Amino acid sequence: MYLPECIGINSQGRLTIGGVDTVKIAGQYGTPLYVMSEQQLRENCREFTGAIREGLDGHGLALYSCKALCCKYICNICDEEGLGLNVTSGCELYTALKAGFPAEKISFHGNNKSKAELSLAVDSSVGRINIDNLPELESLTKIAAEKGKTVSVMLRLKPSVAVHTFEAAQTGQIDSKFGFALETGEAMDAVKRVLSSGCLNLTGIHCHIGSQIFDSDSFVLAVRILMEFMAKIKEETGAELSELDIGGGFGIKYTDSGNPPKIPEYVSSISAAVRECATLYGLKMPFVLFEPGRSIVGSAGVTLYTVGFVKEIPGVRTYVGTDGGMFESPRYALYKAKFEAVCANRANEPWDQTVTLAGKCCESGDLIQEHTRLQKVEPGDIVAVLSTGAYNYSMASNYNRNPRPAIVMVKEGETKVVVRGESYDDLIKNDL
Ligand code: LLP
Repeated sequence: MYLPECIGINSQGRLTIGGVDTVKIAGQYGTPLYVMSEQQLRENCREFTGAIREGLDGHGLALYSCKALCCKYICNICDEEGLGLNVTSGCELYTALKAGFPAEKISFHGNNKSKAELSLAVDSSVGRINIDNLPELESLTKIAAEKGKTVSVMLRLKPSVAVHTFEAAQTGQIDSKFGFALETGEAMDAVKRVLSSGCLNLTGIHCHIGSQIFDSDSFVLAVRILMEFMAKIKEETGAELSELDIGGGFGIKYTDSGNPPKIPEYVSSISAAVRECATLYGLKMPFVLFEPGRSIVGSAGVTLYTVGFVKEIPGVRTYVGTDGGMFESPRYALYKAKFEAVCANRANEPWDQTVTLAGKCCESGDLIQEHTRLQKVEPGDIVAVLSTGAYNYSMASNYNRNPRPAIVMVKEGETKVVVRGESYDDLIKNDL
């Protein structure tokens, strides 16, 4: 059984997060429930800040990709820990601004930003806007000119790096809706258009090759391709760009199988490659941006459920019915994503049953995990699914009009709600 650092088992054989009994938390706040360890979150942030200090003499910044989990409280933690923020929609930007996040440390991404979203980003003077395609470049040029502002931008490129992860999370290849291709000349064309725009300041180039990547080599390859392109930009236009954004995608450990590199290993391999290329091409060492999402919040979260039934189908399988499902935990239904599950009130008992954890939504594919190990459970038990901090709350829905659960933060032995759970009235409030 793989337990993330913030997870333990206490003397009563109950699962803990940040030292607090998860069965008590479930009793106090109800289930289903997202619970997070603030200490783990902060430690994950510090892995990046420490590694950037070490590997780049501080000449870089980690921007938390809040698509992994966006709420004001976590924006504030990232700010306190010295991270910037990568936002991907008007409302992620709005959340960050409402949290008081410094706009100059926000980078605004997205492959089809609306004019309203671009205007909000320009009006709030975000640090960088990441341009994804030519129509967006034209819209932004117009908006900046109308507002009489100079806007710092980066260009999202596709470096054609194939990565080994699930298909939905591969984004750096030419057959992708994201960014400008290098091979076709569209990237260089975009660079020249930005340089001649008069109101856009091209700080650098960006790529994001995928998510849940388990090797540093793919990042190193992407660095080499982008730095070669920076050299080409200098040669063709005379412009020497000052920033390189290598995106996110640093894999985390979900189960016993598979060991991703540690954050300092990713950062040091990337830093070494940037340094080597800067020397090779006679470029100044760029400021290096990283965009971790999953690796900041993933390991810090667990989701708690109450078991409603155990249905043994002889010779077929055993279903354990929970009060959650694909509405709050969509990653198994979408990607067959693996998680570890533990019975929180029997954490010391043998972990020797093979079960399917089912949700309460009206479809057979509404499963949280299949053929997963668990203790022998019965109705009323609390089941914890581990490492659920990334892309669960953020991708949750109200399918079957199920309210999204609350997020409870554990800090120094205390718990508090940082995102309220939805009520039935929250769900009908827009019905006319
Ligand atoms: N930067 C950009 C431009 C991205 O598109 C993403 C994620 C990140 C950074 C952060 O990647 P991370 O460090 O979290 O891997 N819903 C999927 C993951 C989709 C990732 C989308 N982009 C999942 O549940 O696994």
